[in-house]
Amino acid sequence: MRLVTSELVESREILPGQWLQSIHAPDLASGSRAGQFVHIRTGDYSGLVLRRPFSINTADPATGIITIHFRTIGRGTEWFTRLRPGDAIDLLGPLGRPFEVDPRSRHLLLIAGGLGMAGVRFLADEAIRAGRQVTLLFGAAGAGDVYPSSLLPDEVEYVITTDDGSVGRRGFVTELVPEYEAWADQAFACGPAGMLAALARMATGRRERLGVAKLGRKRGAGRQDPVGSPAARRKSFLQVSMEQNMGCAVGACLGCVVMGAGGMPQRVCREGPVFASDELNWENGW
Ligand SMILES: Cc1cc2nc3c(=O)[nH]c(=O)nc-3n(C[C@H](O)[C@H](O)[C@H](O)COP(=O)(O)OP(=O)(O)OC[C@H]3O[C@@H](n4cnc5c(N)ncnc54)[C@H](O)[C@@H]3O)c2cc1C
Ligand code: FES
Repeated sequence: MRLVTSELVESREILPGQWLQSIHAPDLASGSRAGQFVHIRTGDYSGLVLRRPFSINTADPATGIITIHFRTIGRGTEWFTRLRPGDAIDLLGPLGRPFEVDPRSRHLLLIAGGLGMAGVRFLADEAIRAGRQVTLLFGAAGAGDVYPSSLLPDEVEYVITTDDGSVGRRGFVTELVPEYEAWADQAFACGPAGMLAALARMATGRRERLGVAKLGRKRGAGRQDPVGSPAARRKSFLQVSMEQNMGCAVGACLGCVVMGAGGMPQRVCREGPVFASDELNWENGW
């Protein structure tokens, strides 16, 4: 983790109220992994004390540029939209634990609800570079919220649902998952808590439904990996990226906890934001 002063290169509104900002931050671009996030300071004159967390949407070591994709929801995000190319940005990152892909996984299913796209977008790039096949299921309220396919790598199969049926299939993105769960070796999701909870319930019954072998059975002969370890995450079918309101983002304030399956509170900023779905207790409805 580093404190980085970086420079805004480009800022554009890609959808109504949704912005994509390119930031020159070479250390972060080369040292980040999909699933990690940055904590960005707002300017002194914004009157806001706390930094704001954003997923690293893409990172390109060749150009030294990372991007963030956000929706304007309050004073902090509105302040960011007023930044202009050349303005300095104060970033802390990369923070949190990344997604873990099993080296044997060939088919990755990415599932994004709304702004959850920013949480899985970087993983699409990493997976394509590693020669994996990627299907990205994306759910939005309506046509005005649909992430442009032109911003995705050509190799990604992109399947859209909208609540009102204005683009793609009508319904929730979770309804598409049964069509892909046999194909996928692993799934990775980011979006509203209700969507993640529904996916976690589906993942629990998947192995029995499909009669598929559990990844990692041969290697380690059934040995249990410690909960929260990269190895345990690699072996789980579904990993989720959680969002909680954050204070410090470095594990000190306990402002971001969710409940773990074993009854131990988990800090989204340190133990997460990526968790194996079976590491969390989904009954609490955070
Ligand atoms: C690890 C992580 C990654 C994130 N990545 C992204 C991202 O890539 N793109 C993006 O648009 N947003 C992302 N968020 C959410 C983003 O941090 C908040 O939207 C942002 O901090 C709001 O700041 P604000 O000052 O504009 O709003 P505020 O004035 O602070 O809040 C406005 C409203 O938004 C709600 N809110 C604030 N933060 C969150 C949150 N974390 N989750 C849900 N509701 C919240 C508040 O309760 C309030 O109702 C992420 C959050 C986390 C924890
Ligand atoms: S935000 Fe402070 S502990 Fe996570």
